[in-house]
Amino acid sequence: MKTRLLTEQDIDAAAAILRNGGLLGIPTETVYGLGADGLNAAAVRRIFTAKGRPQDNPLILHVPGASWLDLYCRSIPSAAYALAEAFWPGPLTMILRRREHVPNVVTCGLNTVGVRCPKHPVTLEIIRAANVPVAAPSGNLSGRPSPTCAAHMMEDMDGRIDAIVDGGPCGVGVESTIIDLTAQPPRLLRPGGLPLEALRDVLGEVSVDKAVLSPLAPGEKPKAPGMKYRHYAPKAPVMVVAGESRRTARYIRRHLGDHTGVICFDEYKNMFPGCVVETIGPAGDPEEQARRVFDALRAFDGTDAAEIFAQCPANAGLGLAVANRLKKAAGFHVVEAVDVGGDGL
Ligand code: TXA
Ligand code: MG
Repeated sequence: MKTRLLTEQDIDAAAAILRNGGLLGIPTETVYGLGADGLNAAAVRRIFTAKGRPQDNPLILHVPGASWLDLYCRSIPSAAYALAEAFWPGPLTMILRRREHVPNVVTCGLNTVGVRCPKHPVTLEIIRAANVPVAAPSGNLSGRPSPTCAAHMMEDMDGRIDAIVDGGPCGVGVESTIIDLTAQPPRLLRPGGLPLEALRDVLGEVSVDKAVLSPLAPGEKPKAPGMKYRHYAPKAPVMVVAGESRRTARYIRRHLGDHTGVICFDEYKNMFPGCVVETIGPAGDPEEQARRVFDALRAFDGTDAAEIFAQCPANAGLGLAVANRLKKAAGFHVVEAVDVGGDGL
């Protein structure tokens, strides 16, 4: 199969691919998605094959607005409409009870379904033109960093899907925040492009699933099945160095080997001579770090880096999502930088 690159003008061709049961790369504000008609079980099954995705990891349905919620969900709490009003279109996925006709292959047999309205004008037009909910995971091969531009999605999916719509680089850069509205209080299952603080402003109390902050014990099952897999990983092993940024930069400098890669904040990029260095933005700018974190992880695969150290933001605002992606890329290998003082910074 030859994978075509479509432009923002090709709405009808893109919608036809979805309606005919094909696979389509779609731009969103978070990351690129791998879409299919979410009511066509055979088409959805092909998503799993194209990505090499485990069969127990359910998909999100993408809709053009809150008026579609009732078509696929039941017992919808008023909080869902309040969140949609505040944050849709935008980087928020809600887990709700599903209606029976949502195919099992979408939900992997769960009695809930994830629904989101993406904030990208082209994709919203494509969904409306196709007039079907679009089931779409991130458009990477399973386990790889999520794609934040059409070229990165092409790297992973060329020859595996019908087409990718190039809608430019993603403005947010990490996936949507996932909130489970069937739990009491609502529970954050995945930190993402919408900060936890914004959810708490609307919902009051929100609990945080254990899988967000720490590795699971062997055999332990997270509420979002996808949170149990090692993820976003470059080929070389990653170690996250946690703590105040000057201290973590010094820690990494003391531990450099012959083929060390470094993910660091812009301020520290000159501290690691001879290393492959990828910057992710200023230490105090987690929005910029979110836009760049997946590109940084992806960049090491063409290099000779045999191990990668990563600086990591604190858990506030989008920092929670950036830190979660880095820690998942590291398989939760995290060291706390201990300051031995010294070298002029
Ligand atoms: O920003 C995003 O959410 C992107 C773009 C394309 O919209 N999509 C995305 O999908 O990140 P994916 O498949 O890579 O991640 C979806 C996550 C997985 O961890 C999955 O386990 C979880 O959502 N999920 C889906 N349905 C669920 C459900 N019913 N209950 C709990 N978790 C669910
Ligand atoms: Mg994904």
